[in-house]
Amino acid sequence: MTDPPVHPAAPTTPAAAATPVADPGPAVAALDTIVSLAKRRGFVFPSSEIYGGINAVWDYGPLGVELKNNVKRAWWRAMVQERDDIVGLDAGILMAPQVWVTSGHVASFSDPLVECGTCRRRYRLDELPGAEGLSVTDQKDPGVVERLGLRCPNDGGPLSPPRRFNLMFKTYMGPVEEDAAVVYLRPETAQGSYVNFKNVQQSSRKKLPFGIAQIGKSFRNEISPGNFVFRMREFEQMEMQYFVRPDDAARIFDEWLPRRWDWYARYGVDSRRLRFREHAPDELAHYAKKAIDVEYRFPFGWKELEGIHNRGDFDLGNHQRASGENLEYFDPATEEHFIPFIIETAGGPDRAAFTFLIDSYREEEVRGEKRVSLALHPDLAPYKVAVLPLLKKRPEIVALCHKIRDDLKTDMMAVYDDTAAIGKLYRRQDEIGTPWCITVDVDSLEDGAVTVRDRDSMTQERVPVEGVKRLITDRLAASRA
Ligand code: GAP
Repeated sequence: MTDPPVHPAAPTTPAAAATPVADPGPAVAALDTIVSLAKRRGFVFPSSEIYGGINAVWDYGPLGVELKNNVKRAWWRAMVQERDDIVGLDAGILMAPQVWVTSGHVASFSDPLVECGTCRRRYRLDELPGAEGLSVTDQKDPGVVERLGLRCPNDGGPLSPPRRFNLMFKTYMGPVEEDAAVVYLRPETAQGSYVNFKNVQQSSRKKLPFGIAQIGKSFRNEISPGNFVFRMREFEQMEMQYFVRPDDAARIFDEWLPRRWDWYARYGVDSRRLRFREHAPDELAHYAKKAIDVEYRFPFGWKELEGIHNRGDFDLGNHQRASGENLEYFDPATEEHFIPFIIETAGGPDRAAFTFLIDSYREEEVRGEKRVSLALHPDLAPYKVAVLPLLKKRPEIVALCHKIRDDLKTDMMAVYDDTAAIGKLYRRQDEIGTPWCITVDVDSLEDGAVTVRDRDSMTQERVPVEGVKRLITDRLAASRA
């Protein structure tokens, strides 16, 4: 069990304030430590690597896909399974192009881009050295590059005034590549929930307040992606749209803040490395009345982990006007018709899995040797248990290992490994976050007991073979309590 989470009161005034917390420093000083572990142990690979890679797309390897699936399951459990007021949806990535005109993305979903006059490299203005933290008003100022004396970080060349660069990817639907057939790859899952608002509400017979949760791919042609899987061009989102009465919106917004903070803490993120940060009025996305981010102290600074937004009636109101469909809700209690307000919680499994990897990373010295472990919450760990033989040359030991592993496999991810001596096998499992190892030795053949080793304390205990599955299942259940 982790300590109860501590979340400071969310900032209210002044806007753009971050809750004042002393900088705890990152859990891992160098991002490279995580990137190289992720590659070496099969969590994340650069996409299309044999062709030199493709910028800002990453592939999840055998352990990464387990971790990310576990993150998605944990989110779904908290947001859908454990609640009566939220239901799921899986909408298409491609939508009617009109959706993105109505949502404001065609006109406004853009970042400020500057280009070097000599090497032609392009940069996102607010990520240039000397322009970090630039207000959105300043980002729109055509004279800002000159005023701040900004130069190209690559060759010192002159930079163009900023222009808005739309982040949506376009493609063509059908066999003819003409303008009429242009469709967009969705830049957020949210719009799928809005255009299905009536379908979901009527089929599930939910009354306000209720929510629609979605997990799925989104795409953004980011100008300066980077920091590993933090900012990619193809990524996943875990978003929940909560439909509320307008007069309840401010209160319900405030209620979601600690809930979302607690979810990260419940799965092991140290609360000292979390903070809330409210968006300044000129920083708000085009749809937002108010936005507060849960930020995490990454090795490259405090950055958004998840955003909580009060979107007001912007989305349903605009879709009603543009589609001509009535998207009002009828409240039988008050006999009123109105457009619900939307409170959105917008996170992503890539950024969350990345955070869990960083925050669980441990290095220590054990008997003169460096031990690396990932203290992942058991629900998130790719393998829950590894079954290891002390002597792989003894067929009876190997057979007993397989029997135990096969029994565990019906309920959880369990792995058998005999490719090294036991000390090394333990270290390998520590490094990928496996919470428990079961070792079968010569004595096991006599006394019918095995050794269960705990990843974090490294303590070992003897357990009868027939009780080992119950023990692991009980510990998994206890970790969830
Ligand atoms: N529907 C609102 C929305 O999309 P956002 O703050 O732009 O809000 C929500 O994105 C979450 O999606 C982020 O907190 C992050 O977890 C994830 N996300 C956004 N852009 C991303 C990117 N380029 N790479 C990885 N994850 C991203």
